[in-house]
Amino acid sequence: MAIEIKIIDSIINFLQRLRNSADHAVKELKFTKYMYLFGERDDDIYVASYVKSGTTWMQMILYQLTTDGDMNFTHIYDVSPWLRNLAVTDGELKEWPSPRIIKMHDAYRTIPKSRKGRFICVIRDGRDVAWSFYHHEKNYVNNNITYEECFNMLFTNKDQVNWFEFTKEWLENRNGFPVLYVRYEDLKNDLGTQLARIADFIGVTVKKEDVPRIIERISFPFMKEHEKKFGEQPEAGKFEKVYNQFIRVGSTGEGVKQMDDKHYQLYKAEFDKNLAGYDIVKKYV
Ligand code: A3P
Repeated sequence: MAIEIKIIDSIINFLQRLRNSADHAVKELKFTKYMYLFGERDDDIYVASYVKSGTTWMQMILYQLTTDGDMNFTHIYDVSPWLRNLAVTDGELKEWPSPRIIKMHDAYRTIPKSRKGRFICVIRDGRDVAWSFYHHEKNYVNNNITYEECFNMLFTNKDQVNWFEFTKEWLENRNGFPVLYVRYEDLKNDLGTQLARIADFIGVTVKKEDVPRIIERISFPFMKEHEKKFGEQPEAGKFEKVYNQFIRVGSTGEGVKQMDDKHYQLYKAEFDKNLAGYDIVKKYV
């Protein structure tokens, strides 16, 4: 009897893994199809960043720069959609007003060579990304997750494009897309210069009277106060979403301090292999 139960259990496990793989494959295929059919435009602006790098902040910056910045939306995705989300929910983008501000966390290699529009790539110190990601996963996905597991997901994972590969491919930009690189740390330390760079890149002239509104609404306290509009949208029945950690602390160097020597040596070895030649990230090690 014990043997039979073991066999049944392993068949169940096998079928569950098969189902998960099939679900994943369907999502990927839907996304690939959507990338060709969503109706790309020359004035599309993509926010292309690795997770926890300041994507939402950049979406809000672009929304404030390109509109009157009203806060009447329920969720930032109502004014700046996430392409992958739209693909799996069969969402519509054709009727959206220009310029569309489109969020992506996708690897460079997945973008069709002929892609129209321009890209703003937000990059952040990998060590701070890992610390932010750890809190994100703890709050939204699995309360028992460890830092070690998060570290491996971001930095040593070979099944998906990891942080090093993601960053390297976007910096390489082998298809020559128009890309503006913005460091999270520079947004924190010299917001004015970065706003001017971003406005120039997307061809927007900021009116003097709009500056206070823009500065207020992209500030950490303002976004924290309106956190529900930025946190992940609830998925009924899956797990309880908490809306007090998405706009979390917004600082630099927290993850740098938290990384112990063992993890730092692993991080540095991969960094040297992948990113040593790129000046823009040289402080990230
Ligand atoms: P922390 O977890 O370190 O606080 P993403 O949008 O890519 O998921 O990135 C989330 C990170 O950006 C979080 O980092 C979050 O707090 C930070 N962030 C969001 N809005 C911000 C703002 N206005 N100013 C500074 N950091 C911000």
